[in-house]
Amino acid sequence: MLDPIFHLIYVSKTDVLKPGDLGDILFAARKNNPPLNLTGVLIYNSDFFFQLLEGPASNVEKMYKIICDDPRHIACKTLHTYTDYHRKFTQWSMGYIPFDEIKFEEKNPYNLESYNSVINLSPDRTLSFLNYLKKEFQS
Ligand SMILES: Cc1cc2nc3c(=O)[nH]c(=O)nc-3n(C[C@H](O)[C@H](O)[C@H](O)COP(=O)(O)O)c2cc1C
Repeated sequence: MLDPIFHLIYVSKTDVLKPGDLGDILFAARKNNPPLNLTGVLIYNSDFFFQLLEGPASNVEKMYKIICDDPRHIACKTLHTYTDYHRKFTQWSMGYIPFDEIKFEEKNPYNLESYNSVINLSPDRTLSFLNYLKKEFQS
């Protein structure tokens, strides 16, 4: 019997990032997530973070609370949560994709220009965007 996997996707606003912050965040994630059985992906552009955390529900929720209290960003807004039996990013304790490396067939079809547009992403579009990332970056 497979264990259920809880998925949480959120967006946050960041205009306060200092040089080195991003590297420190990824270092912490890649150290802390494996023992918690967490995987996921982080996207950053100069205005927002977009992150998927996936794993046992209690660990995802605990980590989300730690992350939301982090002063390197503000205004965490959950876009979607769901539970199934499959991780999207099995190989990534925390994959990182710079926003400008994402090449869309049409120009930015998910309307991801800024924090203020991403917070309006529907759960369906959020999932569709994640599936697109999986296909492009981890197939
Ligand atoms: C956008 C963002 C995403 C983060 N993602 C993670 C993560 O996936 N895992 C993690 O351990 N810390 C993450 N952090 C860092 C945590 O907020 C916190 O600084 C870190 O867990 C502390 O780890 P330490 O106690 O080992 O120093 C993230 C921070 C930010 C701002």
